[in-house]
Amino acid sequence: MKTVSKLENLFAVINETAELIAKECQLTYIEAVAETGENMFQGAILQEDMSEVTIKNIKRKYESIDINSFEKEEIRKAYQLAILKGLKDGAHPNHQMTPDTIGLFLGYLVSKFIDGKKELSILDPAVGTGNLLTTILNYLSTVEEITSYGVDVDDLLIKLAYIQANLQEHPIQFYNQDSLERLLIDPVDVTICDLPVGYYPNDVEASNYELKADEGHSYSHHLFIEQSMKHTKEDGYLFFIVPNSLFETNEAPKLNQYIKKVAIIQGFIQLPLSLFKDERHGKSILILQKNGEESKRPKQALLAKLPKFSNKEAMNSIMKQIDEWFKENK
Ligand SMILES: C[S@@+](CC[C@H](N)C(=O)[O-])C[C@H]1O[C@@H](n2cnc3c(N)ncnc32)[C@H](O)[C@@H]1O
Repeated sequence: MKTVSKLENLFAVINETAELIAKECQLTYIEAVAETGENMFQGAILQEDMSEVTIKNIKRKYESIDINSFEKEEIRKAYQLAILKGLKDGAHPNHQMTPDTIGLFLGYLVSKFIDGKKELSILDPAVGTGNLLTTILNYLSTVEEITSYGVDVDDLLIKLAYIQANLQEHPIQFYNQDSLERLLIDPVDVTICDLPVGYYPNDVEASNYELKADEGHSYSHHLFIEQSMKHTKEDGYLFFIVPNSLFETNEAPKLNQYIKKVAIIQGFIQLPLSLFKDERHGKSILILQKNGEESKRPKQALLAKLPKFSNKEAMNSIMKQIDEWFKENK
């Protein structure tokens, strides 16, 4: 018989209490996931107007686990499962959480580029559910002091992010706003972002950007790259999850020129196509270093096409090549 793991237990508590809260408070499942997370963090049942029976039932479920006994990664993963379940129904592709296969690989890349730094500031200007940012923060556990910032325009997603951060004890500063408007965040060492792809509807705001389109709406992912550059320190690194076709559209020459002027392309790594439902939505990781006194052009940018993450042999061989690249270029 299969034994129920600690993580499955935690997921069951989040899932079952969210279902009860959703039903009694007439919320969607995903809204109730946020509510139950807040309850678990506060150690209290905060929803009013629930029946005594339901309150007792929920309380019993919370008491069956000790949230403080869980590792940060266990909490993140259990929460990730509940969010995935909630986002499944009808979530827009731009509202999808970054899966941890990508997050872990990005965590590995960030740790290689920052190379033993003990203090770090990090920004995710499209933080969404916080899954990508917290996966990376958990990966960087040897960095002694991390200051982190997350911004998102969607109030439900950012609520899920701040609850995840609380439960995992990451003191992230959150801003619920449009990241392309004025951001009151000082430049950071590292910016990471799974870019929202598509058109940005606010032409007035877009007109403040070099990468605005000559005609019609601008690409929000291009504006996000420019805004991220502004909020990254000189010599700092930027890691973007971008469409494979980033450098192939009719707006691409302008983007290319802009990037060449302000930064150095350190790498472009194509993620396995099997991660995406539709091959046309395949993504890559673009790694940039903002120009500065110490920034150095690599002999050759890190270019790779990742195999399926489950293909251990092929993955080991790629990781070896990446390690070699670091030895030669960093
Ligand atoms: C691909 S998702 C990022 C997912 C996130 N990395 C995670 O792990 O949940 C893109 C995010 O960009 C946000 N977004 C889109 N346009 C935005 C804007 N103008 N300002 C701030 N956030 C925006 C969406 O709400 C969405 O959460």
